[in-house]
Amino acid sequence: MQSKNIPTVRWTGEELYILDQTLIPITVKEIKLSNEEEAYNAIKELKVRGAPAIGVAAAYSLLINLKNKTNLNTNEFINFVEERAKYLNSSRPTAVNLSYALNRMINTIKNKKDKSSLELYNILEEEAKKIHSEDIGICQKIGEYGSKLLKDNCGILTHCNAGRLAVSGIGTALAPMYIAHQKGIKIRVYADETRPLLQGARLTSFELQEAGIDVTLICDNMAAFIMSKGLVDLVIVGCDRVAENGDAANKIGTMGVAILAKYFNIPFYIACPSTTFDLNTKTGNDIIIEERDAKEIINFAGVQTAPLDMKVRNPAFDVTPNELITGFITEKGIIKPPYTENLKALLSR
Ligand code: MRU
Repeated sequence: MQSKNIPTVRWTGEELYILDQTLIPITVKEIKLSNEEEAYNAIKELKVRGAPAIGVAAAYSLLINLKNKTNLNTNEFINFVEERAKYLNSSRPTAVNLSYALNRMINTIKNKKDKSSLELYNILEEEAKKIHSEDIGICQKIGEYGSKLLKDNCGILTHCNAGRLAVSGIGTALAPMYIAHQKGIKIRVYADETRPLLQGARLTSFELQEAGIDVTLICDNMAAFIMSKGLVDLVIVGCDRVAENGDAANKIGTMGVAILAKYFNIPFYIACPSTTFDLNTKTGNDIIIEERDAKEIINFAGVQTAPLDMKVRNPAFDVTPNELITGFITEKGIIKPPYTENLKALLSR
């Protein structure tokens, strides 16, 4: 089964399905999320992951079995939805897309006290569908702007997975590669495997290979060697939250790649929707970094690889300082420094 035939997130009008990303590349299978606990756990356990996909999944997760609650009065219904949004929002802290989507859902009903609960339900469902379809359009535009940076025979390095599997459309960091490939531009992609959860190995190499794009998988500690051989012309990665000054949180290891890129004089781009810019967060120091379970480090592919009582750090993200970022590829164009001014200008467009 090809993963491209199964959407990352699918709402039938009654039920919510996600493509279970923890099973890829061995199994490509959808699972149903039957209640909010299952939705919370699916996000926390990375069955659905990638900043935009988490946002879309969370928006639909608010709707699971919600029709059964339309017997509540309007105030009770709004309170119920707000409580559920708060719970879902606590599943993962770093990607701003999660709170963005949930806040957007809540804001559509907050001041509509004159509506019935069923009317509010319908408004929420429409908003979730809108968030979903906007994501698809945004990816396409990021791809079109970003593809202009890709020349024939160029080498691109990427980290983690910011492709089709992380969004509802063709990805953010991988979108320029899909569009370039469609246009017949020959590209070579190096995918960092992305320890500890291997999103690069399991997901990026899988989806690019499925699309017929020339992709080479490397361990994270090989990026310097590959760059030193002149094989990388630019780096493109995704992003989970960008602070007002342009500091950008992405999968752990991204900052190291940016430092290497600087050393080897290779342009380092971040591709993300403009909704990933969080002007309420001043600098990267203010971004909450998710710390995950020690067992992700102590075990590898189900085998214990370190003493069980080992002291471990497992930050899931790091923050790339703005001065290492050549530009942001967004659906509104490519933004260059100075970021504090230019991000504000972009968001006001
Ligand atoms: O922990 P994950 O797999 O959700 O982390 C994903 C990333 O860091 C992606 O690069 C980011 O969310 C952008 S996805 C378009």
